[in-house]
Amino acid sequence: MTQNPQLTMALSKGRIFEETLPLLEQAGIVVTEHPEQSRKLILPTSRDDLRILIVRASDVPTYVQYGAADFGIAGKDVLYEYSKEHPGGLYQPIDLNIARCRLAVAVRDGFDYEAAVRQGARLRVATKYVNVAREHFARKGVYVDIIKLYGSMELAPLVGLADAIVDVVSTGGTLRANGLVAVEDVMPVSSRLIVNQAALKTRAAVLQPILDAFEHATPSQG
Ligand code: ADP
Ligand code: PRP
Ligand code: MG
Repeated sequence: MTQNPQLTMALSKGRIFEETLPLLEQAGIVVTEHPEQSRKLILPTSRDDLRILIVRASDVPTYVQYGAADFGIAGKDVLYEYSKEHPGGLYQPIDLNIARCRLAVAVRDGFDYEAAVRQGARLRVATKYVNVAREHFARKGVYVDIIKLYGSMELAPLVGLADAIVDVVSTGGTLRANGLVAVEDVMPVSSRLIVNQAALKTRAAVLQPILDAFEHATPSQG
């Protein structure tokens, strides 16, 4: 590993890492160790001046905003949630169109969500996206008690912890497997490139060519 690389990128392992590899390759960058095979949290690349930090998906904005990473990739779900508490801290130049899914409201199959809303019922909503959820239901004029969870949201309505969840849906397989149905879309989600604002100015010479390569490599919408 290089002692003093000029550029640091933050990525989460799993789908974002996997879907980013081809974009990096188009920028001429090969990641020489794989996070599923290595316990290392700082991965070298084929470029001596670029290293990759492996962090939790929801921590990527924090590393980038504070400059511990110069740039990174995060889902709009995570970015929207983060920006509610840290407005304006991140430059988000490119929608990469990867890790596509949506945030949706889901309930147990058989729970009459529309009727509950119509009747002005107070709903208990379990989610890790507390800011997104609060804003969504406020806009609809629905009273909610938000219950913060860190994962496996689909479980909450099954065991009486919540009436509804706000969670990521892609194929719908997880909802189906747990007897839940999506009743409302909250927002479409894909991942964006995010950049530290100071790095953009002070490291433009090395950063800008990488950003340009990402922009050209980005899969088109649809
Ligand atoms: P974690 O579950 O630890 O937050 P993931 O790698 O599952 O990390 O999710 C990272 C990002 O990928 C999410 O913030 C979201 O934008 C997107 N995502 C999550 N689940 C899916 C999915 N099933 N299909 C496509 N994209 C997803
Ligand atoms: C994500 C998300 C949902 C699921 C939705 O889970 O948290 O549970 O995908 O995708 P689907 O609609 O295609 O079923 P993930 O696979 O990331 O597992 P996790 O619990 O480890 O986050
Ligand atoms: Mg996940």
